[in-house]
Amino acid sequence: MIDLSNVSKWYGKFKVLDQCTARIEKGEVVVVCGPSGSGKSTLIKCVNGLESFQQGSIVVDDVSVGVAGKNLPTLRARVGMVFQNFELFPHLSITENLSIAQIKVLGRGKEEAVDCGLKYLDRVGLRTQADKYPGQLSGGQQQRVAIARALAMNPVCMLFDEPTSALDPEMVNEVLDVMVELAQDGMTMICVTHEMGFARKVANRVIFMDGGTIIEDCGKDAFFGDISARPKRTQTFLSKILAH
Ligand SMILES: Nc1ncnc2c1ncn2[C@@H]1O[C@H](COP(=O)(O)OP(=O)(O)OP(=O)(O)O)[C@@H](O)[C@H]1O
Ligand SMILES: [Mg+2]
Repeated sequence: MIDLSNVSKWYGKFKVLDQCTARIEKGEVVVVCGPSGSGKSTLIKCVNGLESFQQGSIVVDDVSVGVAGKNLPTLRARVGMVFQNFELFPHLSITENLSIAQIKVLGRGKEEAVDCGLKYLDRVGLRTQADKYPGQLSGGQQQRVAIARALAMNPVCMLFDEPTSALDPEMVNEVLDVMVELAQDGMTMICVTHEMGFARKVANRVIFMDGGTIIEDCGKDAFFGDISARPKRTQTFLSKILAH
Protein backbone atom coordinates (compact mmCIF):
# COMPACT_ATOMS: atom_id res chain seq x y z
CA MET A 1 0.00 0.00 0.00
CA ILE A 2 2.83 2.41 0.88
CA ASP A 3 6.27 1.91 -0.58
CA LEU A 4 9.18 4.17 0.36
CA SER A 5 12.42 3.54 -1.42
CA ASN A 6 15.68 5.30 -0.50
CA VAL A 7 13.94 8.57 0.33
CA SER A 8 16.34 11.42 1.13
CA LYS A 9 15.47 15.01 1.87
CA TRP A 10 17.49 18.09 2.68
CA TYR A 11 16.59 21.42 4.24
CA GLY A 12 19.38 23.44 2.65
CA LYS A 13 22.53 21.58 3.65
CA PHE A 14 20.83 19.71 6.50
CA LYS A 15 19.91 16.14 5.59
CA VAL A 16 16.64 15.52 7.38
CA LEU A 17 15.88 12.11 5.80
CA ASP A 18 18.65 9.73 4.86
CA GLN A 19 17.84 6.85 2.49
CA CYS A 20 14.61 5.83 4.18
CA THR A 21 13.16 2.58 2.87
CA ALA A 22 10.02 0.89 4.17
CA ARG A 23 7.08 -1.05 2.82
CA ILE A 24 3.67 -1.04 4.45
CA GLU A 25 1.23 -3.68 3.25
CA LYS A 26 -2.53 -3.21 3.07
CA GLY A 27 -4.05 -3.53 6.54
CA GLU A 28 -0.73 -3.16 8.34
CA VAL A 29 -0.31 -0.86 11.31
CA VAL A 30 3.15 0.60 11.66
CA VAL A 31 4.23 2.71 14.62
CA VAL A 32 7.05 5.19 14.04
CA CYS A 33 9.00 6.35 17.08
CA GLY A 34 12.29 8.03 17.81
CA PRO A 35 13.80 11.09 19.48
CA SER A 36 12.62 14.63 18.82
CA GLY A 37 14.04 15.95 15.54
CA SER A 38 14.73 12.49 14.12
CA GLY A 39 12.55 13.15 11.05
CA LYS A 40 9.34 11.26 11.94
CA SER A 41 6.94 14.08 10.99
CA THR A 42 8.93 14.89 7.87
CA LEU A 43 8.79 11.27 6.76
CA ILE A 44 5.02 10.93 7.02
CA LYS A 45 4.45 14.38 5.52
CA CYS A 46 6.40 13.16 2.49
CA VAL A 47 3.98 10.24 2.20
CA ASN A 48 1.02 12.51 1.49
CA GLY A 49 2.97 15.15 -0.38
CA LEU A 50 2.87 17.83 2.33
CA GLU A 51 6.67 17.90 2.06
CA SER A 52 8.74 17.34 -1.05
CA PHE A 53 11.83 15.14 -1.15
CA GLN A 54 14.88 15.22 -3.38
CA GLN A 55 15.85 11.56 -3.79
CA GLY A 56 14.15 8.20 -3.87
CA SER A 57 10.53 7.34 -4.49
CA ILE A 58 7.27 6.97 -2.62
CA VAL A 59 4.33 5.08 -4.07
CA VAL A 60 0.94 5.04 -2.33
CA ASP A 61 -1.63 2.59 -3.65
CA ASP A 62 0.13 2.55 -7.03
CA VAL A 63 0.26 6.36 -7.26
CA SER A 64 3.71 7.94 -7.29
CA VAL A 65 4.07 10.80 -4.81
CA GLY A 66 7.22 12.10 -6.46
CA VAL A 67 5.44 13.45 -9.52
CA ALA A 68 4.68 16.80 -7.93
CA GLY A 69 1.58 18.64 -8.99
CA LYS A 70 0.18 15.90 -11.16
CA ASN A 71 -0.81 13.35 -8.56
CA LEU A 72 -0.98 15.48 -5.44
CA PRO A 73 -4.68 16.36 -5.28
CA THR A 74 -5.67 12.73 -5.92
CA LEU A 75 -3.16 11.54 -3.38
CA ARG A 76 -4.14 13.93 -0.60
CA ALA A 77 -7.76 12.97 -1.00
CA ARG A 78 -6.84 9.32 -0.54
CA VAL A 79 -4.42 9.60 2.37
CA GLY A 80 -6.02 10.66 5.64
CA MET A 81 -3.86 12.68 7.99
CA VAL A 82 -4.37 13.50 11.65
CA PHE A 83 -2.11 16.04 13.37
CA GLN A 84 -1.12 16.71 16.94
CA ASN A 85 -3.17 19.91 17.09
CA PHE A 86 -6.35 18.67 15.37
CA GLU A 87 -6.37 21.49 12.77
CA LEU A 88 -10.14 21.89 12.73
CA PHE A 89 -11.61 25.11 11.31
CA PRO A 90 -12.62 27.10 14.43
CA HIS A 91 -15.28 29.15 12.63
CA LEU A 92 -17.10 26.12 11.20
CA SER A 93 -19.47 23.81 13.04
CA ILE A 94 -18.48 20.17 13.52
CA THR A 95 -20.84 19.17 10.69
CA GLU A 96 -19.27 21.77 8.40
CA ASN A 97 -15.77 20.69 9.40
CA LEU A 98 -16.70 17.12 8.48
CA SER A 99 -18.22 17.95 5.11
CA ILE A 100 -16.17 20.80 3.62
CA ALA A 101 -13.35 18.74 2.11
CA GLN A 102 -15.76 16.12 0.82
CA ILE A 103 -17.61 18.89 -1.04
CA LYS A 104 -14.58 20.89 -2.25
CA VAL A 105 -12.14 18.06 -2.98
CA LEU A 106 -14.32 15.04 -3.78
CA GLY A 107 -17.15 17.03 -5.36
CA ARG A 108 -19.83 15.41 -3.22
CA GLY A 109 -23.20 17.10 -2.84
CA LYS A 110 -23.89 18.79 0.50
CA GLU A 111 -26.46 16.26 1.67
CA GLU A 112 -24.28 13.29 0.86
CA ALA A 113 -21.26 14.92 2.53
CA VAL A 114 -23.18 15.72 5.69
CA ASP A 115 -24.65 12.20 5.85
CA CYS A 116 -21.22 10.65 5.43
CA GLY A 117 -19.64 13.02 7.96
CA LEU A 118 -22.30 12.26 10.55
CA LYS A 119 -21.86 8.54 10.00
CA TYR A 120 -18.20 8.82 10.99
CA LEU A 121 -19.00 11.25 13.81
CA ASP A 122 -21.27 8.53 15.17
CA ARG A 123 -18.49 6.03 14.81
CA VAL A 124 -16.19 8.09 17.04
CA GLY A 125 -19.02 8.44 19.56
CA LEU A 126 -19.79 12.14 19.04
CA ARG A 127 -23.04 12.20 17.05
CA THR A 128 -24.65 14.52 19.61
CA GLN A 129 -21.94 17.18 19.11
CA ALA A 130 -22.68 17.82 15.43
CA ASP A 131 -23.93 21.40 15.82
CA LYS A 132 -21.20 22.61 18.15
CA TYR A 133 -18.02 24.48 17.22
CA PRO A 134 -14.53 23.07 17.84
CA GLY A 135 -13.91 25.50 20.72
CA GLN A 136 -16.86 23.99 22.57
CA LEU A 137 -15.33 20.50 22.58
CA SER A 138 -12.55 19.03 24.70
CA GLY A 139 -9.19 18.26 23.11
CA GLY A 140 -9.96 14.55 23.01
CA GLN A 141 -13.30 15.21 21.35
CA GLN A 142 -11.73 17.56 18.80
CA GLN A 143 -9.17 14.93 17.91
CA ARG A 144 -11.92 12.34 17.45
CA VAL A 145 -13.68 14.80 15.12
CA ALA A 146 -10.41 15.21 13.20
CA ILE A 147 -10.23 11.43 12.80
CA ALA A 148 -13.88 11.29 11.65
CA ARG A 149 -13.16 14.09 9.17
CA ALA A 150 -10.27 12.15 7.68
CA LEU A 151 -12.31 8.93 7.50
CA ALA A 152 -15.19 10.70 5.75
CA MET A 153 -12.86 11.12 2.75
CA ASN A 154 -12.75 7.31 2.47
CA PRO A 155 -8.94 7.21 2.58
CA VAL A 156 -6.96 4.15 1.51
CA CYS A 157 -4.64 4.68 4.47
CA MET A 158 -4.32 6.93 7.50
CA LEU A 159 -1.29 8.82 8.82
CA PHE A 160 -1.19 9.99 12.42
CA ASP A 161 1.39 12.45 13.73
CA GLU A 162 1.47 12.25 17.54
CA PRO A 163 -2.33 12.46 17.75
CA THR A 164 -2.41 12.23 21.54
CA SER A 165 0.62 14.22 22.61
CA ALA A 166 -1.24 17.54 22.95
CA LEU A 167 -3.98 15.98 25.08
CA ASP A 168 -4.54 15.95 28.82
CA PRO A 169 -3.81 12.45 30.13
CA GLU A 170 -7.44 11.57 30.78
CA MET A 171 -8.31 12.20 27.13
CA VAL A 172 -5.56 10.11 25.60
CA ASN A 173 -7.43 6.81 25.90
CA GLU A 174 -10.60 7.94 24.18
CA VAL A 175 -8.52 8.81 21.10
CA LEU A 176 -6.41 5.66 21.29
CA ASP A 177 -9.61 3.58 21.56
CA VAL A 178 -10.81 5.02 18.25
CA MET A 179 -7.43 4.27 16.68
CA VAL A 180 -7.40 0.71 18.03
CA GLU A 181 -10.85 0.11 16.54
CA LEU A 182 -9.71 1.49 13.22
CA ALA A 183 -6.67 -0.77 13.25
CA GLN A 184 -8.79 -3.78 14.11
CA ASP A 185 -11.13 -2.93 11.23
CA GLY A 186 -8.17 -3.36 8.88
CA MET A 187 -7.19 0.23 8.08
CA THR A 188 -3.63 0.67 6.84
CA MET A 189 -2.02 3.06 9.30
CA ILE A 190 1.29 4.79 9.98
CA CYS A 191 1.26 6.26 13.47
CA VAL A 192 3.99 8.47 14.83
CA THR A 193 3.46 7.99 18.52
CA HIS A 194 5.25 7.25 21.74
CA GLU A 195 2.21 5.45 23.15
CA MET A 196 3.91 2.11 23.48
CA GLY A 197 0.78 0.51 24.96
CA PHE A 198 -0.95 1.26 21.65
CA ALA A 199 2.04 -0.11 19.74
CA ARG A 200 2.01 -3.33 21.75
CA LYS A 201 -1.72 -3.74 21.24
CA VAL A 202 -2.17 -3.16 17.51
CA ALA A 203 1.09 -2.48 15.69
CA ASN A 204 2.37 -5.08 13.27
CA ARG A 205 5.72 -3.34 13.09
CA VAL A 206 7.67 -0.62 14.82
CA ILE A 207 10.01 1.69 12.95
CA PHE A 208 12.63 3.45 15.04
CA MET A 209 14.22 6.59 13.56
CA ASP A 210 17.22 8.60 14.65
CA GLY A 211 19.00 11.40 12.80
CA GLY A 212 16.85 11.00 9.67
CA THR A 213 17.67 7.31 9.36
CA ILE A 214 15.44 4.29 9.86
CA ILE A 215 17.55 2.48 12.45
CA GLU A 216 15.14 -0.39 12.91
CA ASP A 217 12.05 -1.70 11.19
CA CYS A 218 10.93 -4.86 12.88
CA GLY A 219 7.98 -6.87 14.07
CA LYS A 220 6.35 -5.72 17.29
CA ASP A 221 7.38 -8.80 19.23
CA ALA A 222 11.00 -8.40 18.20
CA PHE A 223 10.93 -4.70 19.03
CA PHE A 224 9.55 -5.18 22.53
CA GLY A 225 11.35 -8.45 23.09
CA ASP A 226 14.91 -8.68 24.27
CA ILE A 227 16.00 -5.04 24.66
CA SER A 228 19.65 -6.05 24.98
CA ALA A 229 19.48 -7.41 21.42
CA ARG A 230 18.50 -3.99 20.00
CA PRO A 231 20.95 -1.50 18.48
CA LYS A 232 22.47 0.83 21.08
CA ARG A 233 20.46 3.87 19.97
CA THR A 234 17.19 1.96 20.29
CA GLN A 235 18.18 0.76 23.74
CA THR A 236 18.89 4.29 24.93
CA PHE A 237 15.58 5.51 23.53
CA LEU A 238 13.51 2.61 24.87
CA SER A 239 15.06 2.87 28.32
CA LYS A 240 13.91 6.51 28.41
CA ILE A 241 10.34 5.99 27.26
CA LEU A 242 9.69 2.72 29.04
CA ALA A 243 11.16 3.96 32.32
CA HIS A 244 7.86 5.47 33.47
N1 LIG B 1 10.92 23.69 7.52
C1 LIG B 1 12.08 23.29 8.05
N2 LIG B 1 13.24 23.91 7.75
C2 LIG B 1 14.42 23.50 8.27
N3 LIG B 1 14.55 22.46 9.11
C3 LIG B 1 13.43 21.81 9.46
C4 LIG B 1 12.13 22.18 8.96
N4 LIG B 1 11.22 21.33 9.48
C5 LIG B 1 11.90 20.48 10.27
N5 LIG B 1 13.22 20.76 10.25
C6 LIG B 1 14.26 20.02 10.98
O1 LIG B 1 14.24 18.68 10.52
C7 LIG B 1 14.46 17.78 11.59
C8 LIG B 1 13.37 16.76 11.66
O2 LIG B 1 12.16 17.39 11.99
P1 LIG B 1 10.82 16.58 12.26
O3 LIG B 1 9.77 17.55 12.61
O4 LIG B 1 10.55 15.66 11.11
O5 LIG B 1 11.24 15.70 13.51
P2 LIG B 1 10.34 14.80 14.45
O6 LIG B 1 11.03 13.48 14.56
O7 LIG B 1 8.95 14.79 13.98
O8 LIG B 1 10.46 15.54 15.86
P3 LIG B 1 9.37 15.72 17.04
O9 LIG B 1 9.39 14.42 17.81
O10 LIG B 1 9.92 16.84 17.86
O11 LIG B 1 8.05 16.02 16.41
C9 LIG B 1 14.61 18.64 12.84
O12 LIG B 1 15.98 18.79 13.12
C10 LIG B 1 13.99 19.94 12.46
O13 LIG B 1 14.58 21.00 13.15
MG1 LIG C 1 7.16 15.49 14.79
